[in-house]
Amino acid sequence: MAAGIDDITIYIPRLYIDAADFAKARGLDPEKLQKGLGVSQMAIVDTNQDPACLAANACLQIMQKNKLSPEDIGRLYVSTESSFDESKAMNSYVIGMLEQVYGQGAFEHCGGVETKFACVSGSYALYDNTNWIRAGEAEGKHALVVVSDIAKYDMGSSGEMTQGAGAVVMLLNDEPRLLAFDPKVTATSIKDEYDFYRPFGKETPIVHGQYSNLLYMIQVRKALEIYKKKALASGLMKLEPGETILDHMDYLNMHLPYSNMGKKALAYLVRHEWRQLPRWKKIIQEMGIPEPVPKDPRGTIESVLGDEEFMAKDHEFTKLFTKTREFQEVYEAKLASSLIASKMIGNLYTASLYLGFRSCLEFEYQKGIDLNGKRIGFGSYGSGSSAMVFSGTIQPQYEEIVKNMNLEAELAPRRKLTLQEYEILHENKLSPEESMLHTKREFVLVDVNTTVESRGERRYIFNE
Ligand code: HMG
Repeated sequence: MAAGIDDITIYIPRLYIDAADFAKARGLDPEKLQKGLGVSQMAIVDTNQDPACLAANACLQIMQKNKLSPEDIGRLYVSTESSFDESKAMNSYVIGMLEQVYGQGAFEHCGGVETKFACVSGSYALYDNTNWIRAGEAEGKHALVVVSDIAKYDMGSSGEMTQGAGAVVMLLNDEPRLLAFDPKVTATSIKDEYDFYRPFGKETPIVHGQYSNLLYMIQVRKALEIYKKKALASGLMKLEPGETILDHMDYLNMHLPYSNMGKKALAYLVRHEWRQLPRWKKIIQEMGIPEPVPKDPRGTIESVLGDEEFMAKDHEFTKLFTKTREFQEVYEAKLASSLIASKMIGNLYTASLYLGFRSCLEFEYQKGIDLNGKRIGFGSYGSGSSAMVFSGTIQPQYEEIVKNMNLEAELAPRRKLTLQEYEILHENKLSPEESMLHTKREFVLVDVNTTVESRGERRYIFNE
């Protein structure tokens, strides 16, 4: 039975900071953000928004757009790492908000949980819900998987230039118009790590930035190895001499903590895959420098990062490699379109990969390409750490959905924050009623109870 993504909707907060303003205020070269990281704007939440509101707004949009009623939805999963309760799951808040529109008890039999594993948890939720459909348990109902996050780092930290906020919701069913997942190829890797984590009670994460960059690439590569074995064993792909598995993916959508991480990861995976192929010799000859090897090739991530000579040479090699015609062709054809939205919005943690998927569909369609039957490979990564590699094919009815995608229009109208306003918001100096914007027909947070007996209870309304 086919199962996959029937439709996708995004909800992005309407406030943002501009990368150039931000760089100026922090004494950084704006080029570091714009060219080095690929960050142009970062979406910021208002005082009356939390990840549950973002998720509920996305859900309401997709339900209204598809004229779905609550009885049509069998499961609603929320994946997030911006959770504000250790026990009450975020889908419960989302259902509470949706029932303000659809009537109390309307979602009474809609099962679901909140899932957590940093940025990768949405991919696990998609996989589990796809299998719920494949198993025949859905009985004609749909599943909603919402990925919603506020990527917030300490002020003055190196992570601060990679913030963002938003939610993406995907409607899953057994007749998906957009993308059917390839069966029996989903592959994972997992390792107990501390590259990025957020201890209880802390609003922002503790981050080992360069360590996390390298770990992301290693973990995704390990998952790709297993994907490859499964894809060949299941007959999904057959490699001719000189081919790699990546040649059989028309697009690659990567987790995007900042848009250039997608390019870094692609270069890493392509190098790994091409190294054993005849085409690599030619590329090395053209580049005119040998591929560097660390002093201890079997060493730890720390030993590789500590090998300064290798790191410098590898950086130079990567830069040269990404300029080769061979890499540029892969980059432009398979990845570049997925990075556009991330540049304009920033990191969405769990939602970043799926914002990239949405971006890939819209901007590839705009090129006039017929997307029917194209295979998309997904590289999902979550700190702490786990990666998931899986794939799917675009379905014949995709155009029905994709032709109406318009990122610019969906983001508008946005309001640019001054750095002073941003810092006030960042430090939580304002209460929900002091919001910067007064939005209509959206769920907003009204208050968070501070009394001893009801501490933490949240009240939301739908702004008519
Ligand atoms: P940094 O260490 O300050 O930056 O912070 P850098 O020195 O690595 O520079 C960044 C890039 O800008 C480099 O490009 C520089 O060369 C370039 P690259 O060499 O890598 O291609 N650059 C310039 N370019 C033009 N003009 C200039 C200039 N200066 C430098 N003047 C870092 C970067 C990502 C470490 C930091 O922002 C950070 O800690 N971010 C948060 C952690 C993160 O995003 N990690 C990514 C992988 S882990 C992950 O994805 C999981 C995550 O989403 C969480 C989860 O799973 O929940 C984060």
